[in-house]
Amino acid sequence: LSLKPYNSFAIDVKAKYFAAFESVMVLEELLSAAGHEQMLVLGGGSNILFTGDFNGWVLKNECKGIRLIDEDDNYFYVKAAAGENWHQFVMHCIAQGYAGVENLSLIPGNVGASPMQNIGAYGVEIKDVFHELEAFHREERKLVTFTLADCSFGYRESVFKNKYKDQFIILNVTFRLRKKPVFNTSYGAIEQELEKMGVQERSIKAISEAVIHIRRSKLPDPAETGNAGSFFKNPIIPTLQFEQLQQSFPAIVGYPAGAGQTKVAAGWLIEQCGWKGYRKGDAGCHARQALVLVNYGNATGAEIVQLSTDIINSVQEEFGIHLEREVNLV
Ligand code: EPU
Repeated sequence: LSLKPYNSFAIDVKAKYFAAFESVMVLEELLSAAGHEQMLVLGGGSNILFTGDFNGWVLKNECKGIRLIDEDDNYFYVKAAAGENWHQFVMHCIAQGYAGVENLSLIPGNVGASPMQNIGAYGVEIKDVFHELEAFHREERKLVTFTLADCSFGYRESVFKNKYKDQFIILNVTFRLRKKPVFNTSYGAIEQELEKMGVQERSIKAISEAVIHIRRSKLPDPAETGNAGSFFKNPIIPTLQFEQLQQSFPAIVGYPAGAGQTKVAAGWLIEQCGWKGYRKGDAGCHARQALVLVNYGNATGAEIVQLSTDIINSVQEEFGIHLEREVNLV
């Protein structure tokens, strides 16, 4: 079976076996059937780059459902199944008046993948609205609950990418969402967009619309051009090193990232190296956001990886900064 419809990079590779599950019961049956063969659990497929055929089982999480499970004076507790589309979940929250995820509008992928790499955009990360999640332990065949502290969230990081890599299958996530919104417009472009939209009174809906406009203006729509969002992480370097770079490159973009650390805009570094808008065959570097690599049609995973390696090498050479891939290679 071709995995092309199941990965946003639209890479045409095959899986030996493919099955979907809508419940823990079916998941357990599939785990038994798969035995010790290789296995990959797929959500929306929006943060993955296939570099070859998958010689094992691809299990697609299609567990559905969004439920308000509890509330107190300040918060709604909303439990969403892992197979729900992330953006549809955000739209549901906005319609119901659950505040906190509006800045995360239009991020591709499913709810189940959101804690995996602590998705974030426009000043908000999943960790800011996370309450707990339930995941299934593959080997021990049991449900485990993870609190916020258990997940060790960091910038595009969690325990599921590190210590517990490939051990758990996330089944649902409970979010703690505000009854009274606290608008986060720390990201300058949101204020500008709200003004352009002529918004008089702020609302989670207005913020969401502003974010959607900004994303559409910069980021390629995976339905049209294969991509997995930012291909690299923004590197975090010592502020001292950043200040030295500023002497040679006064326009370099960076933000404070905790004690003595600065987060550098990788898009800027890549653009300076001349990659923005570059295309070789069907593999390219997006013309409006250099941090995003794209598949114009029939690129192979290997071609995209090669392009990313060339970019990593040139940024290393020019700035002495090592870029790390954000997308998972399989
Ligand atoms: N920039 C350039 N050239 C480029 C791209 C960016 O000079 O080609 C500069 C911009 O001018 C700006 C700075 O870099 O000053 C930051 O750019 P942008 O606001 O577009 O955000 P980003 O740092 O490139 C990150 C996230 C995005 C998220 C945005 C907005 C990562 C790896 N990426 O991108 O997340 O939407 O901030 O918060 O942290 C994703 O993870 O897939 C993703 C799209």
